[in-house]
Amino acid sequence: MKPENRTFIISGGASGLALATARELHSAGAYVSLLDLNAESGSQITSELGPRSKFFETDVSSTGSIAAAIAGTVSWVRETGAEVGGVVAGAGVGLPGLILGKGNEPLPIESIDFVLNINLRGTLDLIRQSLPLMATVKPDGPDGERGVIIMIASSAAFDGQMGQVAYAASKGAVASLTLPLARDLSKYGIRAVTIAPALFESNMTKMMSGKVKLGLEKAMEFPKRAGQPEEFAKLVRTTVENSMLNGTVLRLDGAMRMPARL
Ligand SMILES: NC(=O)c1ccc[n+]([C@@H]2O[C@H](COP(=O)([O-])OP(=O)(O)OC[C@H]3O[C@@H](n4cnc5c(N)ncnc54)[C@H](O)[C@@H]3O)[C@@H](O)[C@H]2O)c1
Repeated sequence: MKPENRTFIISGGASGLALATARELHSAGAYVSLLDLNAESGSQITSELGPRSKFFETDVSSTGSIAAAIAGTVSWVRETGAEVGGVVAGAGVGLPGLILGKGNEPLPIESIDFVLNINLRGTLDLIRQSLPLMATVKPDGPDGERGVIIMIASSAAFDGQMGQVAYAASKGAVASLTLPLARDLSKYGIRAVTIAPALFESNMTKMMSGKVKLGLEKAMEFPKRAGQPEEFAKLVRTTVENSMLNGTVLRLDGAMRMPARL
């Protein structure tokens, strides 16, 4: 599918990997509907990108908030005529914590809920609510493709580190749901793909200490550096454009396998 003149719904689109994705798809002629909690960066980005972009202040852990953003996107699509071509579920958070703390206290359930509600429930809810819109798009090209859903897991889906039980659970679930999602949606001509990045430069990783970053860089094979958001965004674009990518999890990690501890 060509991104040109199609609308992409991008959660987490005000920062990091999802923002780079929005810029990449926008530069390929797409319309981008950005859903994020951060209204300040959201409006800065739409004023920079111009009329082929729209921002909706959204909390993906709230079903009502997603519903409002989808309704807003539906009206926008009606105005522009640029049918929805895909969803990129990029909103995500990390909240490290050992499952059993040093004082023999278990990880608070609130921490687990926080991570699962955004990374897993929020991803599924966004997809679920975008589907009625995507399934009624006019099929495109010889395959009759309607669109693609792109999710973001993490290396933590496969080799999560100490203190990452909740995060790894959320990302492992996203990786696991990719194939059944693709199977459910094949009759509509909608694909589902998950990208699992290792360490990439973003606001999320800016918060890591120098020691943690250095430890991760030591575990890298080649290249020995954090990925750039633009490198992630290029894989999203390839995923949109290459219809044979479906039902799979693509590791984007320079052969890095995360060690148990740093
Ligand atoms: N950067 C990395 O190294 C890395 C590695 C593996 C996976 N990931 C995943 O990539 C995704 C993007 O992360 P990033 O590194 O670009 O981080 P980031 O912090 O730069 O961007 C995340 C965005 O999500 C938004 N967000 C957070 N909670 C939200 C909510 N409830 N509703 C709506 N928006 C919300 C934030 O406001 C922010 O704009 C996440 O799912 C993250 O887990 C990142």
